[in-house]
Amino acid sequence: NKDMANRPAILAVDQGTTSSRAIVFDTAGGIAAAAAQEFPQLYPQAGWVEQRPDDIYRSTVAVCREALARAEKAGAEVLSMGITNQRETTLVWDRQTGQPVYNAIVWQDRRTAEHCAQLRAQGHEADITARTGLLLDPYFSATKLAWILDHVEGARRQAEMGRLAFGTVDSYLLWRLSNGRIHATDATNAARTLLFNIHTQQWDEELLTLFQVPPKMLPEVRDCAAEFGRTEPTHFGRALPVQGVAGDQHAAMVGQGCFSPGMVKSTYGTGCFALLNTGARPVASRNRLLTTLAYRLGGEPTYALEGSIFIAGAAIKWLRDSLGLLRNAAESEEYARRLESNKGVYLVPAFSGLGAPHWDPHARGALSGITHDTGPAEIARAALEAVCYQTHDLMVAMASDAGEPPQRLRVDGGMAANAWLLQRLADLVDLTVERPHVIETTALGAAYLAGLQAGIWPSLEDIRHHWRPAALYQPSISVSERERCLLGWAQALRQVLTAGH
Ligand code: G3P
Repeated sequence: NKDMANRPAILAVDQGTTSSRAIVFDTAGGIAAAAAQEFPQLYPQAGWVEQRPDDIYRSTVAVCREALARAEKAGAEVLSMGITNQRETTLVWDRQTGQPVYNAIVWQDRRTAEHCAQLRAQGHEADITARTGLLLDPYFSATKLAWILDHVEGARRQAEMGRLAFGTVDSYLLWRLSNGRIHATDATNAARTLLFNIHTQQWDEELLTLFQVPPKMLPEVRDCAAEFGRTEPTHFGRALPVQGVAGDQHAAMVGQGCFSPGMVKSTYGTGCFALLNTGARPVASRNRLLTTLAYRLGGEPTYALEGSIFIAGAAIKWLRDSLGLLRNAAESEEYARRLESNKGVYLVPAFSGLGAPHWDPHARGALSGITHDTGPAEIARAALEAVCYQTHDLMVAMASDAGEPPQRLRVDGGMAANAWLLQRLADLVDLTVERPHVIETTALGAAYLAGLQAGIWPSLEDIRHHWRPAALYQPSISVSERERCLLGWAQALRQVLTAGH
């Protein structure tokens, strides 16, 4: 294709919880080529979730090669690379051999619930929150890292001698792609570890002591758009500069152009994560939301309030893979459309505890209101509606923290392809829902970050103008209908919360 000859382009890799995806974007933010691969999740015990580091790395390299080959065949010239990733997932590896000492412990893993409870009982939570903006929950990396050091023989000693490296998935990929030359991360990923002080923008010595993490293990923290170094030619046949890195939810903020205070996006992947831009000021939540970074550019942090829901698309995957109720994810939409109402059926997908605003690691899921005529359609619809109800609960918390309700909600992620879900979301949350053209917004954000650094896009202002709505959904149900549904959800939820919640 002559038109595409030597058109500059950017490779973005989105290493997610259940799949690795690579997308090559052109300079207008359009998709030139894409590839995706699912990889295995390991559930060694109830509440434990692991991944093999090699699966993460290999699937990433495979999709990058595939997308690069396709884009280049069409005449694109890939100049730069951005990495975005599932956050909090914790890896520890040997600096000499490159061998991980344990599997990656995934963000969903709850094995450190007791450790968190102990620290809470000792009165540490308020101080941890003040420094990190986070809560004492097994979701974050610190207690997972401590678990590896305490349970893998010799690991703590090796770590103290400086032989082991810690990293989130971005860091591990950078390490592998540079054949062990680069040990770095970006501020957004660092901000999810419980070890990073979001006010000083540095690893926090007190927290390293509290969680007993040897500082020698830590990666260097950079801006989201920065020179991270080049990949070794062994991987992609050439050295590609990595110039953008951000945790997936932060990359989605950039991809959605949420650059002004008050703007909010919600990404529907394995989980659902809603972030509200609060500008240069970190806002402490009174409703158990997280204070985190939206992104950090030019050394300047922009902050966000985040509501984290652990299960969104994962519930549909569960209906498909474990229950065999669906042939594919799209079928959930067909089922849901067939029903006039939810018929009183509610699914609370607390498969690995509940995140915001409850933070109950011991809660487990429930399906309620089932009768003789409950079938796949009712259950599929309940799984989709659960995503809406949980988003509703986050928006209520955000409105209360921010002093005013968000005006509009920008949505993205795989589930945003489901038009029924987005209409229901607008109905139940009572907000205008906006879906952009590119719903692979996470990858797009990583491409924007790399492109900012590479000089392909001059500024955030320029990127903001690329954002276009592809569809708008307006609330269209009656107040009484909404209230009936929200009440049913609140009752179902109450059944799964454990003591103290
Ligand atoms: O915090 C976990 C999050 O980053 C995972 O994202 O896209 O796999 O739901 P996702």
